Amino acid sequence: MCGIVGYIGQEQATPVLINALKKLEYRGYDSAGIAVLDSGYITVRKAKGRLRVLEEKIATEVIRGNLGIGHTRWATHGEPSDINSHPQTDVSGKIAVVHNGIIENYSKLKTWLENNGILFRSETDTEVIAHLINFNYNGDLLAAVIETIKKLEGSYAIGVICENEPDRIIAVRKDNPLIVGKGDGENLIASDVPALLEYTRNVYYLDDMEIAVLYKDRVDFFDEYGTKHGKDFSRVDWDISSAEKGGYEHFMLKEIHEQPKALANTLRARIKTYASKAINLDEIGFNSGWAKAERVVITACGTAWHAGVVGKYIFEYFAGIPTDVDIASEYRYRNPILNPDNIFIIISQSGETADTLAAMRMAKKAGAKIIAVTNVVGSTLAREADLVMYTWAGPEIAVASTKAFTTQLMCLYLIAFQFGLLRGEITGDRLEKLILALENLSGQAEKILSDEASVQRFAARQFNKTKVFFMGRLFDYAISLESALKLKEISYTHSEAFAAGELKHGPIALVDNDTLAVAFCTQSELFDKMDSSIKQVKARGATVLVITYEDEDRFNSIADEIFRIPRTYDELTPVLSVIPCQLFAYYCAVQRGHDPDKPRNLAKSVTVE
Ligand code: F6R
Repeated sequence: MCGIVGYIGQEQATPVLINALKKLEYRGYDSAGIAVLDSGYITVRKAKGRLRVLEEKIATEVIRGNLGIGHTRWATHGEPSDINSHPQTDVSGKIAVVHNGIIENYSKLKTWLENNGILFRSETDTEVIAHLINFNYNGDLLAAVIETIKKLEGSYAIGVICENEPDRIIAVRKDNPLIVGKGDGENLIASDVPALLEYTRNVYYLDDMEIAVLYKDRVDFFDEYGTKHGKDFSRVDWDISSAEKGGYEHFMLKEIHEQPKALANTLRARIKTYASKAINLDEIGFNSGWAKAERVVITACGTAWHAGVVGKYIFEYFAGIPTDVDIASEYRYRNPILNPDNIFIIISQSGETADTLAAMRMAKKAGAKIIAVTNVVGSTLAREADLVMYTWAGPEIAVASTKAFTTQLMCLYLIAFQFGLLRGEITGDRLEKLILALENLSGQAEKILSDEASVQRFAARQFNKTKVFFMGRLFDYAISLESALKLKEISYTHSEAFAAGELKHGPIALVDNDTLAVAFCTQSELFDKMDSSIKQVKARGATVLVITYEDEDRFNSIADEIFRIPRTYDELTPVLSVIPCQLFAYYCAVQRGHDPDKPRNLAKSVTVE
């Protein structure tokens, strides 16, 4: 969703900007650009395509300067092209701007600027910002930015430089992430932490409408009216290798393989052994008052929403509490009935998804208790929610979400079990068994990953299928949704998920010889039902892949292929059964010649509507 960076310090800015942009390419990769200031003159270089195209373009020139800004783009206004790439400049070229977000009133502002004689060169909303800053400039860039943001509606994270002020970068954000890195004799801005890690671990998370002015030896902070204030920095304790590929060909494969460790991390601090095993959720203020809650509402987007679908089954099954799950982009435009006795769980890997944040703010207004389940410390969601439960999955760089999903599930199990105990739905003995089963999931995930080669072989045979349908019931239906999304987003294979019982109500009309049907069979009481669904699709020519327990034989004779998962409670299988499907999607994408880390038309962290 666009990545922005900025550097001011002793080093040459160009290599720092390019290096930092490489860490943000997951946010957008249809064009890139830099603007570097030296001797009172800004040099702008931009190129359509991946960052390497820009690198090739500037390889033979020396762009000097110790101050600059950079951008990697995911197009919203205007197709990917050199001219639409950022940085955008004002007419004189004295002011350069990088922007992540959407200026919603840009056409009104554009018309106004055109009526004042400004000629636009690009189709971007960002160009409006550059012209407006120039329009408001009277020798003080900070004052011009403050004046400009008064006019902007929408969401933005912006970095600005000006030829007349060669000693500072100005940065401001609203509803889009922006972090300031505090170095030694150098300071940086970036949309996300990985871009900063090589330079510093001391970061300031900017608040909405907060302005940072970066000099090489200090950073000043102002509110939107220009009043200066102090700010404490936070220390990032990520290991640099967690933001690198670490020998894997792609981030996605690395992150799939990180799941055993991530699952164990999610659990570690939350399981306490007193006389017996217990869950400790002090971090979200879990207490007996929660028993009064009438309803749980879960809201999220994409893969996080699929975690929420599993969550609905989990909360109803283990805690016996009515639970609704909603797509955040729908929720925000409905007229949802909420009251202060509802517990509102918001799930988001990035903590920056625009629709999810909007849903959270609505629920907050309605007085609901908000629990954020997120992976990113310091994210907007983490800062605005009442209570936060971190997934502790480590940075997720690949666009397709994998370890974030399984760790989100882990958090939901923990909350639901605790809830169940409180509401008398789970006894202490049962809780102990369930905790043990959760603890086993990490090793069981490892076991599934050790048989990666058979998934790879199957993908090599099936990657050309034009239709892949995933089906299952209950928890298996939720995992069908997630598996279909994973396959379509990175391999561009048409894939759909069905509740297996719905097949006969329509979808079966699509099944033919070119269909791969993936049947999740982990809900033991529904094996007979799945057996008959499988027979129905097989009779119409489909190839059938079954995902079931390692010790389950009953599908041997009807499946063309079986992926096996270790035995656990049927209700905990989502954490395991999704893993072979993540691998399958990954290997289909690779077989089809696509880059799984950077699927077309997508970007991680959807910070615009
Ligand atoms: C799919 C995927 C997306 C995200 C969705 C929500 O693999 O990554 O569907 O799950 O955009 O993102 P977060 O969790 O950051 O709110």
